[in-house]
Amino acid sequence: MYHQPVLLKETLESIPSDAKVIIDGTFGHGWHSMAIAEQFPQAKIFGIDRDQAMISKAQERLWPDSNIAIWHGSYADIMSLCKSTWIQWVDYILLDIGVNMDHFKDGSRGFSVHEDAPLDMRFDMSQDLTADQIIHNESIDKLSAIFQRYADFAPDKANELAQTIAKERKQHSIQTTGELRTILGLCGLGKKASTVIFQAIRIAVNQELKQLEDFLQSFDDVLNPWGRCAIMSYHSIEDRLVKQSFKNKVASENYIAIHKKAIKPSWQEVQQNRAARSAVLRIIEKK
Ligand SMILES: C[S@@+](CC[C@H](N)C(=O)[O-])C[C@H]1O[C@@H](n2cnc3c(N)ncnc32)[C@H](O)[C@@H]1O
Repeated sequence: MYHQPVLLKETLESIPSDAKVIIDGTFGHGWHSMAIAEQFPQAKIFGIDRDQAMISKAQERLWPDSNIAIWHGSYADIMSLCKSTWIQWVDYILLDIGVNMDHFKDGSRGFSVHEDAPLDMRFDMSQDLTADQIIHNESIDKLSAIFQRYADFAPDKANELAQTIAKERKQHSIQTTGELRTILGLCGLGKKASTVIFQAIRIAVNQELKQLEDFLQSFDDVLNPWGRCAIMSYHSIEDRLVKQSFKNKVASENYIAIHKKAIKPSWQEVQQNRAARSAVLRIIEKK
């Protein structure tokens, strides 16, 4: 099935016409990268993804002579990844942050509330920290903080959830996402609210905000003057981080904002691709 890359036209239009080195920091299945490769045949494209399974799947579809190379790693390590391949300057960096639809479809990874799977939720399967460890080892305060900060739950409700999890884990080990859903159900959470809690646990497992913060602090070291950085986010906390960081960079007079307002998908795009509905794209250019 063809996957519709989010805000593709707007992304392609924002790439400098003479770009020679482009980094797609969230390669996924490579749909954005493949469209970029087609429109910018003169450019070398480097894709990064934390999930080796995504890379392997995408590699099956890439032409052997394509101008795309893929690294397994995190966009937060963009500086060291560039150094390791002798890349000094990059003309365009794209991040399309979050999960891939395949993460939800793969019932074994623990991302979906609709499946019963081990409590895993790691993008990078070589990482130690799993959802299981968060559910069993974090203190009540830390669990509550995760639910407040990443799921926007009120303190009372977040505390109730954290206490219920702590009570259950004392009695028996919570092995699967199905069992976790049952526990969330004890606190009155339906599928929608459980989805938000699953997302919060996933953000904690993968330290997604820390990854983004590290990237925002480091991409300047590899971006060429006139180069651009485009970030698409789907979560208000992530967008807030991007918005604030870009605002600071523009205020420091080293960057200019390409658009006055963030770019959002059109009504037509959302009709064709529900996954695009909460996307927010921000782009800045280095002076
Ligand atoms: C929304 S998908 C990207 C889809 C992609 N633009 C496409 O066209 O196929 C996000 C991807 O980012 C990856 N990812 C999440 N955090 C990452 C990180 N810190 N560094 C690199 N990749 C990451 C996920 O594994 C997932 O494949």
